[in-house]
Amino acid sequence: MQRAPTKNKKLRAWVDENVKLCKPDKVYWCNGSKKEYQELCDAMVQSGTFIKLDEKKRPGCYLARSHVSDVARVEDRTYIASAKQEDAGPTNNWTDPVELRKKLTGFFDGCMKGRTMYVIPFSMGPLGSPVAKIGIEITDSPYVVVNMRIMTRMGKKVLKALGADGEFIPCLHSVGAPLKEGEKDAAWPCVPDPANKYIAHFPETREIWSFGSGYGGNALLGKKCLALRIASVMAKSEGWMAEHMLILCLTNPEGKKFYVGAAFPSACGKTNLAMMRPSLKGWKVTCLGDDIAWIRVGQDGRLYAVNPEAGFFGVAPGTSKASNPNALKAARKNTIFTNVVLTPDGDVWWEDMGVPPPAKGIDWQGNEWTPDCGRKGAHANSRFTAPAKQCPVIDEDWENPDGVPLSAFLFGGRRPSTIPLVNEAYSWEHGVFMGATAGSETTAAAIGQAGVLRRDPFAMLPFCGYNMGDYIAHWMSMAGRTQRDKLPRIFFVNWFRKDENGKFMWPGYGDNSRVLKWICERIEGTAKSVETPIGCLPTEDAIDIKGLKKFKADTIKQLVAVDKEGWLKELQSIEEFFSKFGDKVPPALKSELNSLRSRLQK
Ligand code: GTP
Ligand code: SPV
Ligand code: MN
Repeated sequence: MQRAPTKNKKLRAWVDENVKLCKPDKVYWCNGSKKEYQELCDAMVQSGTFIKLDEKKRPGCYLARSHVSDVARVEDRTYIASAKQEDAGPTNNWTDPVELRKKLTGFFDGCMKGRTMYVIPFSMGPLGSPVAKIGIEITDSPYVVVNMRIMTRMGKKVLKALGADGEFIPCLHSVGAPLKEGEKDAAWPCVPDPANKYIAHFPETREIWSFGSGYGGNALLGKKCLALRIASVMAKSEGWMAEHMLILCLTNPEGKKFYVGAAFPSACGKTNLAMMRPSLKGWKVTCLGDDIAWIRVGQDGRLYAVNPEAGFFGVAPGTSKASNPNALKAARKNTIFTNVVLTPDGDVWWEDMGVPPPAKGIDWQGNEWTPDCGRKGAHANSRFTAPAKQCPVIDEDWENPDGVPLSAFLFGGRRPSTIPLVNEAYSWEHGVFMGATAGSETTAAAIGQAGVLRRDPFAMLPFCGYNMGDYIAHWMSMAGRTQRDKLPRIFFVNWFRKDENGKFMWPGYGDNSRVLKWICERIEGTAKSVETPIGCLPTEDAIDIKGLKKFKADTIKQLVAVDKEGWLKELQSIEEFFSKFGDKVPPALKSELNSLRSRLQK
């Protein structure tokens, strides 16, 4: 057994305890070096978990194919095990923490037999930043180790920062597939039966236990489990915010910078907006983060955002030179692809990549695939894991430990009808109402049916570690922590309106810069706008559509119109949603609902 490279007593005791429980063949403490990463990748190529891609086409890149049952987050197997059920709230799966711990202890008993236990020290947030949090993930998956090295700051330097008595968040993970003596390992070991997967959070003791899945947010525990679910609990008690938000910097033609945080649900356009190439001349977008933002009130009273991650775990399908050239460039080298098509020349392909498919390839399940075979080649939730620093438009301040001051919050979602292209809230309270009532169609990012409309407050429905009613109240309370004029302005956007033929009406992607321009103009006080019952909308000629090909001026009129009938139905559905929360709905939210209703009925 390797000697523990730390004097931290709590950490040593926790690892010892789990070695006893999980019974691995070996224990390995990750140092985070390039050499270690390379050795793990090589070993995974040997074992069949990884396929090395062509060194000229994709230097330092690998392809992994998951088990067919293990392709996305499992929301119905994700638990918030707080002492009281009320503290998990009506939107989370709750279970008794004592019982869950007992059950999981049984599951973890001997679960790493025949495997190596890896100990991964990682930091969410730039190391040494006052906002950074240290986590330690124990895992039996080398795939998790190499992904964590891209997604977080990982290794020796974290143990150094932790020191002898530093605090860390314990994150225990196993794929749940012990090996018998001499048994050949699967390329993607996991627990195939969904009923035996558990993504468990203990908010009071700030622990994470994940069993049975090796995929994405289920297994890379720094991301959704720590930086959102556990962090949201810490944020609430410490007066800051942990959000499912991208962070971007928009620079206008005069060189003025606007930092924006945007919360869209999973697979609803954060990565694409965060690093977009604006179609408008003179405007520039640089990226600080594509999925998570930790936000605090700064010394000057403004809200400062930091991206706790160090990489992108981005959706592959739809990523093309036309839609997101900067993501493609970020994933050109040193990237791990999961569940995409392997081409005969050792490259990758996915649907809507903007290049012709190979005449014959290997699909995400490892079967021969041809473009006319009637099946998709890449899984809809196939992903690339790429270092953020490889993004050609990474912002110069992306690792600034103090973060960047936000001028605007955007909320959004997939709404085929009713919701306009862009809509500004009248006040902080109205904006919080917009965020709290956000709806979106479900996507392939979670297992379950896609395309079903659901309420997804602040895009945090699957990621809030406590009662959603208290979380909404926490958002409201931010107004009391600073002066009103220091708060970011709040907008709701919808890139996903569809026409009667089911086609997207708005071109999206780089053309979303046209909407960002209007948002800047609102902040600057120069935008053409009109006050409507639902909020402040652009006038019919306010969105700059110059140079937009095949786009009718009439379409923009539809996109910025108030659909009164649709909104009255929306009100009903919002009321139903609020009724789940009983007396946890903040009074300010109810009063926003009433004001909206009376404005609509006038
Ligand atoms: P998570 O990583 O799951 O949190 O997702 P995300 O919010 O970062 O989503 P992402 O940007 O990866 O987009 C998901 C899908 O939406 C991709 O297939 C994109 O092609 C598509 N998409 C993104 N932006 C737009 C847009 O402006 N218009 C349209 N029509 N589709 C978009
Ligand atoms: C999401 O589902 O919102 C993601 C992907 O960002 S995962 O890390 O798998 O949660
Ligand atoms: Mn996400």
